[in-house]
Amino acid sequence: MRTWPVLSTLLVLAACTTMTDSPEPTAATRDPHSRAEPDRVVVRHLDLDLTLDFAQSTARGRAALTLVRHDPAAPLVLDTRDLAIERVTDATGRELPFRLGTEDPILGSALTVELRGETRVVVVHYATTRDAAALQWLAPTQTAGGTHPFLFTQGQAILTRTWIPIQDSPGVRLTWNARIRAPEGLVPLMSASTSEPDPDGGTRFGMHIPVPSYLIALACGNLVQREISPRCAVWAEPATIDLAASEFADTERMIVACEELYGPYAWGRYDILVLPPSFPFGGMENPCLTFATPTILAGDRSLVSLIAHELAHSWSGNLVTNATWNDFWLNEGFTVYLEQRILERIYGPERAAMEIELAMQGLEEELATLQPCDQCLRLELQGRDPDDGMTAVAYDKGAAFLRRLEQLYGRDRFDRFVRGYFAAHPFQSMTTDAFLAHLQANLLDSDPALAAQLDLETWLRGPGLPKDTPVVRSKALAAVDAAMAAWHADRDLEALAAASSGWATQQWLRAIAFLPTPCPADVMAQLDARFGFTATGNAEIACAWFELAAASRYAQAMPALDAFLGKVGRRKFLKPLYEALQKADPVAARELYLRHRSRYHAVAVRTLDAMLLEQGRAP
Ligand code: BES
Ligand code: ZN
Repeated sequence: MRTWPVLSTLLVLAACTTMTDSPEPTAATRDPHSRAEPDRVVVRHLDLDLTLDFAQSTARGRAALTLVRHDPAAPLVLDTRDLAIERVTDATGRELPFRLGTEDPILGSALTVELRGETRVVVVHYATTRDAAALQWLAPTQTAGGTHPFLFTQGQAILTRTWIPIQDSPGVRLTWNARIRAPEGLVPLMSASTSEPDPDGGTRFGMHIPVPSYLIALACGNLVQREISPRCAVWAEPATIDLAASEFADTERMIVACEELYGPYAWGRYDILVLPPSFPFGGMENPCLTFATPTILAGDRSLVSLIAHELAHSWSGNLVTNATWNDFWLNEGFTVYLEQRILERIYGPERAAMEIELAMQGLEEELATLQPCDQCLRLELQGRDPDDGMTAVAYDKGAAFLRRLEQLYGRDRFDRFVRGYFAAHPFQSMTTDAFLAHLQANLLDSDPALAAQLDLETWLRGPGLPKDTPVVRSKALAAVDAAMAAWHADRDLEALAAASSGWATQQWLRAIAFLPTPCPADVMAQLDARFGFTATGNAEIACAWFELAAASRYAQAMPALDAFLGKVGRRKFLKPLYEALQKADPVAARELYLRHRSRYHAVAVRTLDAMLLEQGRAP
């Protein structure tokens, strides 16, 4: 049982006196990815009751929604996609008339419910369908243990509507309870602040802090727990728990570092759930329970920047939330900046510098592939899948902008500003314009001479990187460049082995990036024989090496690459690997993809279908 009314949460909530009567998004700030009309009728609370059916890959039950009706004549409008709606009633069980609008492939169908004069609670009786993109039902063979099935949900950006009928916009917050019934032997977990067994069967969860719908998450499988500090536990399958607990041992220090910088952690517990490898993302910041890919379990804690990142979302994203997906950079740019500050405090400036330099290198490469309109911080995603906004621009151009402000105003002043920003808007949604107004009033206006040095226009609305982008150079990466240049000149593998002893993961990534594409097969073979890249257990190094191997048609790595693609579903790895394979041999790439496709999550399938199956087809 987990029940933690935590003082810091109460303090933050108390500071936020306007929370419950905060204005609803108006038509002007309305979310282009939601059909809901929260300025007329808004959902404030959800009571969810679901039974999980692993045999049918469906969840069935009801969602009871508590409303605030600003416009007494208006119906309730919910977002749904691929749901089987059975009936809609009020709290007493009386049927309410409803209609499902025409289906849009991205947004789904609006569910409009006619309300009676007194109706305050609407109950939707429904089941999920096999098309539900938020849900991935895994066969036992897709898990570490191989004996139990597994289910997890992924709500961000607009997938929660595929498993809960809801106002699916980050500008609408609600509290929620849930009762989840699962087969014997499977443990359900949710992104909740409380959980307890239900006397009538199943598990009850509660989230008493209002959250946006994309942060409601569920997982269910053969899961065990290990405490790593008084407020942190790791959850994983039994086969993975030891490794996971030791990998994440620094988590408590990360929370303390972030609290010292940005104010109290508002969510009570911070637990981490390690998912099976088909999880399509690296991590997802579900409140109280970060979801993480097992591909960060490198054995040496070298990939835990991802935990710093998901933890940082507890401030940037979960506490102060992007109002629409056009403002996604407010979530991710801030979070990357916070993540880098946490890394610096715990692992030192050199480690942070390595991560920043590598990220900026990745950003420049990606910028070269993006349309000018997609290189701005504030995006225009109307009519598009918000997933298209998940580029390095939101993440790394966003973080670079904040580093520029820090450089200009100095750390002390900038840290005070960021702390004040979180304290001023807890549990609220933020548009880019509202952030800019806060920035102007609380930082720029305090020193107009400094503000004049800032190329604000290019940062926010311009393509590319402004001239005043701060440059970060890591000594450790410079050492790699020097060692690789020496090897390139003399091909002395033993000298390279000596120079590279003790290199960190990030340094190996730089070394692989140094190699030419394609790289001659005999050079690949020599490096592989000396350093064992093909057999590495580090997924980041494996991915970088396999990408080069595919581009270089280095046949010896192919069986390991095939096995990697058959196991790992993390889109960040799949995309460059299939891209490299496709360039080298489109027919073989397609054949490989079709062989593994059924094991990937809908989010990854969407990206890869467009790349491997739909491209080049007649319209
Ligand atoms: N919130 C994101 C994941 C996300 C973004 C899911 C948009 C769906 C739509 C998460 O915090 C994230 O950024 N994850 C990264 C890892 C991070 C270390 C950059 C990922 O999964 O690659
Ligand atoms: Zn993130």
